[in-house]
Formats: sequence, structure tokens, C-alpha cells
Amino acid sequence: MDSIVVRGGQELQGRIPIAGAKNACLALMPATLLSDEPLTLTNAPRLSDIRTMSLLLRSLGAEVATMQDGRVLALSSHDLSNLTADYDIVRKMRASNLVLGPLLARAGRAVVSLPGGCAIGARPMDIHISGLEALGARIELRDGYLHAEAPKGLRGAVIEQRFASVGATENVVMAATLARGTTVLKNAAREPEIVDLVRCLRTMGAEIEGEGTETVTIEGVDRLHGATHPVVADRIELGTYMIAPAIAGGAVELVGGRIDLLPAFCEKLDAAGISVSETAEGIRVARANGRARAVDVRTAVFPGFPTDLQAQMMALLCTAEGTSVLEETIFENRFMHAPELMRMGARIEVHGGTATVHGVDRLKGAPVMATDLRASVSLILAGLAAEGETVVSRVYHLDRGYERVEEKLSGCGATIERIRGE
Ligand code: EPZ
Repeated sequence: MDSIVVRGGQELQGRIPIAGAKNACLALMPATLLSDEPLTLTNAPRLSDIRTMSLLLRSLGAEVATMQDGRVLALSSHDLSNLTADYDIVRKMRASNLVLGPLLARAGRAVVSLPGGCAIGARPMDIHISGLEALGARIELRDGYLHAEAPKGLRGAVIEQRFASVGATENVVMAATLARGTTVLKNAAREPEIVDLVRCLRTMGAEIEGEGTETVTIEGVDRLHGATHPVVADRIELGTYMIAPAIAGGAVELVGGRIDLLPAFCEKLDAAGISVSETAEGIRVARANGRARAVDVRTAVFPGFPTDLQAQMMALLCTAEGTSVLEETIFENRFMHAPELMRMGARIEVHGGTATVHGVDRLKGAPVMATDLRASVSLILAGLAAEGETVVSRVYHLDRGYERVEEKLSGCGATIERIRGE
């Protein structure tokens, strides 16, 4: 297993290109199952999760070709030979459950393994199931798999989600595009990745309104046709790299970044005394003098502070002046980066979903372990500001969601390298 070594203390100067969004691409790829015509995705990120989704789609009989060094995905599902998403793929990546809605809509049947828990929480699927059942599907849990069928096809319905689940919104919206009649989805998730998926579905011929608001209305159509769609910029990669100059000092331009993708996060960085400004090509982030200021953070669904940036913000607040309180309201176990940061001298008290962070002058480099995707990158960010050397092991977690992180950071002057493991 590879590890990444960071030597802290360098201020950062330069530009970092922001890739296409992992969490948009993982919803866009299953959309190919809704049509027998080709779907081409451009600006695709080159990540192991994307390769896992390609494997899954191929196992269903779809074709997935990559071009331009992985930046373009050519997908088609003319013939679906298999309607089962196997446990050994789904357990590695929860987003595999996003084939459920499209398969039901296209083929009237799907067998999808329950993903099982992951490091950050139990990750149940009750909201997905109740939404698809409202559309007329019959779903039964047997030996760890969801057996779903809609022999007479799906029909439109009025659905109110108990929680604005991102994945459930994506599954229900995709399924509803081919249902007979109108679907009104209330308390829909509003994340930019949902907006991007709807834009792609509309290009494929779907009739959808209200994306990005709490109520999405879908008019079912008989079939969808092929399309070409550019994947939206990755706001979580963007926010992650915005923290780099904030914690290490210096100034970095995030090329392709957009402030509207991260409204609450940008407000918090501003409150912490970090300079955030739009440029012709993206966003410039600078920390001129001294340490960041402590701020309180509470994660929430979009447009609130993203849970996927909580660990990265905690790393910054470990070095801020003052005491910050972070409240994680989306997942039940998303502070596993805290004990690792404490190995670096951070002062953090965790009680349930609340972490109190007392900022320290300087963190100290140490060997630390990645536990989940966003926790692992928060350790690298802490390493940029720490005295001495930080070795982050188990970085396969990192490669799921970040392209070439050591190249992007060393390109701005960080001392960081990857050590190939056995
Ligand atoms: C998506 O996961 C993202 N993944 C996650 O990013 C992100 O953290 C999450 O949305 C929240 O923004 C992808 O888009 C591939 P949810 P998803 O359904 O759809 C509970 C990353 O780091 N819930 O909005 O699984 C659930 O347990 C990943 O890139 C139910 O109880 O998130 C969680 O506590 C991590 N029942 C909360 O809702 C359900 O049926 C949010 O889950 C569904 C969800």
C-alpha cells in the first residue's frame, strides 16, 4: 500500500486545476442505463471510484470506453445482459446503488446488493426504497440483496423524502424520467451534482424542472436518447485545495473553481480571515499574515456547509487562533481524522457529533493513517503546516477521490511525494 510523505513549512504559490466532480460522474455514468443510445461524458475525473463504476456497468452488459487519457468516457448500454450488481463491487463503493433506479426504469427489474456499512456510517437505503416503491416498484431484501421489480413499468407519484438524501434523489429522478405520468419529488437534495445530473438527463430528452430547489418535477417520457455532457467541476476537490494555502500560507489560484458551488464554505473561510476572490479562470485563495481565526462550523445539506469538507476544515482550525466547535449533522461517525490529527499535536475533544478544536501554534509531523477518503486528505493538509515530516499511510482511500494529489500540491511548492508500497 502506498503512503504519502509531506514535509511542512513551505508557503504555497501557484495554480491548481480542478477536475470534474467524482460525485457528479458517479451519478452520470449509470444514466447510460436509461437509454440504448451512447452517452459521452467529458471532463471526467481519473479516479479509482470511476474505474469501479466502469467495472460495475460492464458487468451489467454496458460498454464503457475511456479516451483522452481517461478524461472522456464513452458509455452505451444497448444490450443489458445482467441486472445484478454484485456485493463484491457494491461493498467497495456505495455509489454502485445508483444503478437501481435506472435498471428498474429501463428493464423493470434489478438486483442490487446492499452496500453494507462504511467507515463513516451505517449508510441505509430506506429513502431510496420508499421513493422507488412510490413509483410502483416492489422491493424485497433477500440475502443482503435488494430484489426490485416493476413488471408493469413505473408510474409517476408525489413523493416527500424524510431527508434530502443525495443518492435517493438521484435514483428517484433517474427512474421517474421513464415512468408513466408526472412525479413530484419533495424535499429533494439540492447539491450541484444533482443539478448536473438533471442537465444531462434533459439533454437526453428527459422533461424535468426544479433542479437545485426542494421540489423537482419529472414528466415521464417513452424513451431517452444519447447525449454528450461535460461533468461539472468538483466542489469538494475545490474546497480541499482552498484549504491548502489557508493552512500553509501563500496564494493559490484554483482553475475552474466557482464560488457558487461552495457558498457556505467560502463564507466560513472569509470569517476565518482567509482571502477568497474570484478570478477570470477560477478562485484565488490567500492567507497573507498570521494564522486563521477560529470559526464554528455546522455541516448541513446544500447550500449549507458540506459534510465532505468537514475534515479538511478541522485541519485548518487545528492551527487557527482560538477555539472552534464543529458539528457533524449528516453522518454518525465522521470524526476519525481527529485522533490522527491529535497525533500531530492537535487539541480536539470529540463528544458524539460535536468536536471542539483548540487551535495550536504549530502541528508536528508524525506517522498517521488514512481511514476514509476525506479524512486522508485532511491529514495531508495538516502535514503542509506541520513542523517536520508527516507520513500518511493507506492512501488508497485518497486515490478514490483525488487525482494526483502529490503532483497538484508539489506544483505549488509543497514538499510532498508518494512512496510506492508493496
Ligand atoms: C453522497 O452520498 C456523496 N456520495 C457523499 O460523498 C456525501 O457525503 C453525501 O452525499 C452527503 O452529501 C456520492 O455522491 C457518491 P446521502 P449519499 O444519501 O448519497 C442517510 C464522498 O466523500 N441516509 O445524502 O450516500 C445516510 O446514512 C462521499 O465523496 C439514510 O438514512 O448521501 C447519511 O447519514 C462520502 N437513508 C445521510 O442520510 C437513505 O436511504 C446522507 O446520506 C439514504 C441516506
